[in-house]
Amino acid sequence: MVPAGRPRDARARADPVSSGATSDGSVWTDGALGADGAPRTGGAVGVVGALPVARPRRLRRTPALRRLVRETRLDPGQLVLPVFVREGAQTPTAIPSMPGVVQHSLDSLRATAAAAAAAGLGGLMLFGVPLAKDAVGSGATDPDGILNVALRAVAGEVGDAVTVMADLCLDEFTDHGHCGVLGRDGAVDNDATLLRYAEMAVAQAAAGAAVVGPSGMMDGQVGIVRTALDQAGHTDTVVLAYAAKYASAFYGPFRDAVDSSLVGDRCTYQQDPANRREAAREVALDVAQGADLVMVKPALGYLDVVADTAAAVDVPVAAYCVSGEYAMVEAAAAHGWIDRERAIAESLTCIRRAGADVVLTYWALEAAGWLTAGRWPL
Ligand code: PBG
Repeated sequence: MVPAGRPRDARARADPVSSGATSDGSVWTDGALGADGAPRTGGAVGVVGALPVARPRRLRRTPALRRLVRETRLDPGQLVLPVFVREGAQTPTAIPSMPGVVQHSLDSLRATAAAAAAAGLGGLMLFGVPLAKDAVGSGATDPDGILNVALRAVAGEVGDAVTVMADLCLDEFTDHGHCGVLGRDGAVDNDATLLRYAEMAVAQAAAGAAVVGPSGMMDGQVGIVRTALDQAGHTDTVVLAYAAKYASAFYGPFRDAVDSSLVGDRCTYQQDPANRREAAREVALDVAQGADLVMVKPALGYLDVVADTAAAVDVPVAAYCVSGEYAMVEAAAAHGWIDRERAIAESLTCIRRAGADVVLTYWALEAAGWLTAGRWPL
């Protein structure tokens, strides 16, 4: 084979046009067909085009070739299914803005956890939907609060067969819907919130969470959670830090999913979508405070941040394909405007390609089913 960029022979170097070869190794053609039906090449034909030497399309000819050279693959063990559990629910309740996703009862949650273990998923991320809320989110630290009850139920059901993770944030439990407690001025009080997170982390670990995911974007949250866990003897509890979490419109359906009480926005604690360098700072701080994994959220609009993070850190990187990303694909597919399965497979593949080791996705069970069946509908 002639390496690209090298002339085929001395004559080509001297007179590429009449010889039919160029200095980059390609062969000239005039674009017309010769008597044998093949493109005419060489200097005698009035050259206007080129026959390429490098033909990347060769590797795309058959499904088997494409499979052979595919750079990014997925495994069910890299997928985490976020799940919602509603206090007092006897049966699952549909979430209208997230077709196919439900608020679970404890029974249906247990069944889903068993299905996740059978499917070989990497984890389940639990969110609680309490009946009562208050200013400090008491339900979050109450051992009988719905999230802690659900953690015990799931851990009891699957043990360590699937990694049990807990969202560590107050927003589902506060009557104002913010991720922290409010100061007298009505603003989120960072340091008072940290004390609640410390307590919440210990309650979640005691309830059976193998992983806690602080998601409130308070400064210092990873450090205080790590310290609190260690002091309570939970040195094996993993901290998955929502390190670069943006103030995103794509959380819209999630707010339905957890019956959010929020009025206003989270722009004083979540990141401005315009900022990339700031994410590097957030990630570095979380790693320095002891994060075992770092997460970027949302995923698809922030793949530059995923790639930056993967290049910068030596801990595993997760990305959260959020409720709005899910809802967009489902809604477009329901209209027949998009091929649902291909859009899902493409979304998850691209998140992994950008550098995420772990993907949180509401499609985790379905995607794991495809992978187990040897089918990936790209
Ligand atoms: C906060 C939290 C949110 C999500 C996960 N954890 C919502 C928010 O920050 O407003 C969003 C997840 C999604 O949209 O799928 N506890």
